[in-house]
Amino acid sequence: MTGCLEHYDVIVIGSGPGGYVSAIRCSQLGLKTLCIERCGDSDKPILGGTCLNVGCIPSKALLDSSYKFFQAEKELKFHGILMEKLSVDVIEMQKRKEKIVLGLTKGVQGLFKLNHVDSIQGEALVEGVGKVSVMKPDNSKVDLTADYIIIATGSRPIELPSISFDQKSVLTSTEALNLQKVPERLAVIGAGAIGLEIGSIWSRLGSEVEILETLKDFLPSADKQISSEALKILTKQGITIKLAVNVQSAEITNDEVTVKYVDESGEQELIVDKLIVAVGRTPAIQNVLGQNSGVEIDDKGFIKVNSSCETSKVNIYAIGDTVYGPMLAHKATEEGMMVAENIAGESIEIDYERIPAVIYTHPEIAWVGLTEEQANDNGLEIKTGFFPFSANGRALTSSEGIGFVKVIADAKDDSIQGIHVIGPAAADIVQQGVIAMNLESTAEDLSLTMFSHPTFSEAFHEAALFIRGKAIQISNRKR
Ligand code: NAI
Repeated sequence: MTGCLEHYDVIVIGSGPGGYVSAIRCSQLGLKTLCIERCGDSDKPILGGTCLNVGCIPSKALLDSSYKFFQAEKELKFHGILMEKLSVDVIEMQKRKEKIVLGLTKGVQGLFKLNHVDSIQGEALVEGVGKVSVMKPDNSKVDLTADYIIIATGSRPIELPSISFDQKSVLTSTEALNLQKVPERLAVIGAGAIGLEIGSIWSRLGSEVEILETLKDFLPSADKQISSEALKILTKQGITIKLAVNVQSAEITNDEVTVKYVDESGEQELIVDKLIVAVGRTPAIQNVLGQNSGVEIDDKGFIKVNSSCETSKVNIYAIGDTVYGPMLAHKATEEGMMVAENIAGESIEIDYERIPAVIYTHPEIAWVGLTEEQANDNGLEIKTGFFPFSANGRALTSSEGIGFVKVIADAKDDSIQGIHVIGPAAADIVQQGVIAMNLESTAEDLSLTMFSHPTFSEAFHEAALFIRGKAIQISNRKR
């Protein structure tokens, strides 16, 4: 660690996408900033948190590699590209992933240096207002003071009481991203973002994948039209998704796991080589708040904060997965930026209604704003626009003609209320929707915007045109 140990303007605890971004912004704003990170190697912090090390980035690296294999095996022949003797080298695939992770975590180190953010490896404990102690890897304790403290310690996987992780056969998402061999039979508990992404990776590489979900509805937070299309597509890809099941136990014998569950037909047994438990995450704050910190926790285990991410204690903030809201890297980042700016005297707020969500299956599933069901529940009179990728030229040239774009607008003032996409480039199309919503665009504004041809985004344009009864590439008749 470089710099003075005693006093900082800001101490950030945790270096994930919330913490590291916040630390950099604080420093850019002239605040003397220290970031404390638990993970490390030889007394040096490994920066980037869950997202860079064991979450978003490694999962996307494996999703992309496995999709290339899937294409080579199943799709390239339709392009006239023929391959004989295809095989997967999982170790090489994992090495590529590690290289990407290392490059990005080193990149954060570089950004800290560039922006004069100090960093230290250790277990930080908030002792009270302005007081933090750090237990370093060599067991020496350092006492620090700061004008402001930002808690950005992220989350950890939830464990099921009846099933314990052994990190070999029963895994969290972390180990599931480090498998060195394709398991023949794989079960996943939980059909959320992690379950679907990890299930997709190993299914494409040859595993027989079965996902067990407790809810009777698939992806209940997505628009119903999107979730039912997603279920159809993923099932067609060969992933078995069982809804409304109640998992009872998982027993490990030799190298197999026997999962017992109950569904509508009664007791069932599933024998697999690996079981991944992906039933959500919980804030990782247990060892961060000292007995006298005075920082309050809500009944769900999140740190209580106001809309500016201030905790119950003055000048102590909490962001990202430690506080209420979707556990998403981009939400943590925006909260980190907001807190930094506000500490420096600004008065920034986040629009929590416009947080985009993406699931990186193939095709991607993404949305922002209200679903049709939420709009109806809110009593909002709406108009919907729809466009299938099967009528989008760019999608057809890429053999990506599945899925659709759905745009929801307020029937009274034409304002965009929601954008829901399943299909190619869904994440990027929804991002255009987020910008449109932030600029308070109407469906008419979108319909009058020029879109390049041929692009996947034209499906978004056509869906907006459909709302105005002006769709050209499909019939304007409501479905
Ligand atoms: P999740 O909350 O998205 O999904 C967990 C699923 O497990 C739910 O559908 C839930 O009903 C089910 N479940 C809970 N208990 C169960 C049980 N006993 N038996 C069977 N099913 C059960 O959580 P997930 O997928 O673990 O992800 C954790 C967090 O990380 C989420 O907030 C997610 O949004 C975020 N994440 C986001 C990603 C993205 O943006 N692409 C990727 C991965 C994670």
